[in-house]
Amino acid sequence: MQFSKRLDLFGEEIFAALNDRRLELEAQGMKIYNMSVGTPDFHTPDHIKEALIEAAKDDANWRYSLRDLPELLDAVCSYYQKRFQVDITPDMVMSVYGSQEGMGHLGMTLCNEGDVVLLPDPCYPVFAAGSLLGGAEPYYYPLTAEHDFLPYVKDIPSEIAHKAKYMVVSLPSNPVGSIASPGLYEEIVAFAKKYDILIIHDNAYSDIIFDGAYGGSFLSTPGAKEVGVEFFSLSKSFNVTGARISFLVGKSEVIAALRKLRSQIDFGMFLPIQKAAIAALNGPLTSVKEQCRDYEERRNALCDGLRSIGWDLPNGKGTMFVWARLPGGRMDSMNFCMELMEKAGVIVTPGASFGPHGEGYVRFALVLPPEKIREVVDAIRRSGL
Ligand SMILES: Cc1ncc(COP(=O)(O)O)c(C=O)c1O
Repeated sequence: MQFSKRLDLFGEEIFAALNDRRLELEAQGMKIYNMSVGTPDFHTPDHIKEALIEAAKDDANWRYSLRDLPELLDAVCSYYQKRFQVDITPDMVMSVYGSQEGMGHLGMTLCNEGDVVLLPDPCYPVFAAGSLLGGAEPYYYPLTAEHDFLPYVKDIPSEIAHKAKYMVVSLPSNPVGSIASPGLYEEIVAFAKKYDILIIHDNAYSDIIFDGAYGGSFLSTPGAKEVGVEFFSLSKSFNVTGARISFLVGKSEVIAALRKLRSQIDFGMFLPIQKAAIAALNGPLTSVKEQCRDYEERRNALCDGLRSIGWDLPNGKGTMFVWARLPGGRMDSMNFCMELMEKAGVIVTPGASFGPHGEGYVRFALVLPPEKIREVVDAIRRSGL
């Protein structure tokens, strides 16, 4: 059967290949530590679960929702004020089934065939997938150690910038773990205004940021609301990854355009999930802060541990990931990951799967407690890799 050419845009699923081999090794009795996929192992706060359970008892909440409840939009607006000191109105907010889905459809909403878009390299894969689905041609701006793994707009050629429709920025960054430096967002807003580019900020990790740094919103930057939108996901802050709760927030004409596209293919978020989201947004944030401290302990256990066995890596500054240069100057991250699984039983993600500038690195997901992370480091040490 002949499928759409769109499918040819995408290669093999990297996690699937690692997973097949993991199953074989486990069947042979090998102990496996899986630090590849970013699914949090923390608890979902009870008040969120209870809101969902209560709402699910009412038949009315099993019907098509057709829209975001006004209380949900208000809860996002209040949260943005309380948490980020950003004023937004309900016309600047819409729900999406996770930033992943939202980013995919936003590319289709904004792009025409051949449009240029600016994406980080390495980057979270859906940034590229969404743009490609929209027919765009990505120009990858590198995130390198030389610039602290941050966007460096001065290096983007002006003829590219003139053609660009949007730029995706995402800090704290998956996979590289960098966080916004003072003045960076101001520079990006000025760049966006100069070249008339929409900024799409993916803000999945504002609550997982270390060493006392503040995780804010791009939209708090003066002028950002005129040039930008932000994906605001509850997935990692509240450990609700499976519930698919995220919002696109910001410039209202972009929100209206994405809403128009999605209204052709969707009847709205399940009402009990909307109620759970309201409970998360209006509820206490104590667990969010405690969890950040737990992630920091894990970061310390991994980075200190890897350095103690000769790896050369700085501490990650945020996200639930650590970005580590391969030991011994190796530049074959896929082979390295397979070897690490075979010899140490440790599964991590090859840097090259996030883009060409990811080659020579691997990404560890901080999904194990510190004592298990110390076992991981010991297993790597014993493997001799
Ligand atoms: C940078 C980034 N954006 C978005 C997502 C996905 O968020 P959501 O669960 O809201 O789709 C992730 C998940 O790992 C991520 O790392």
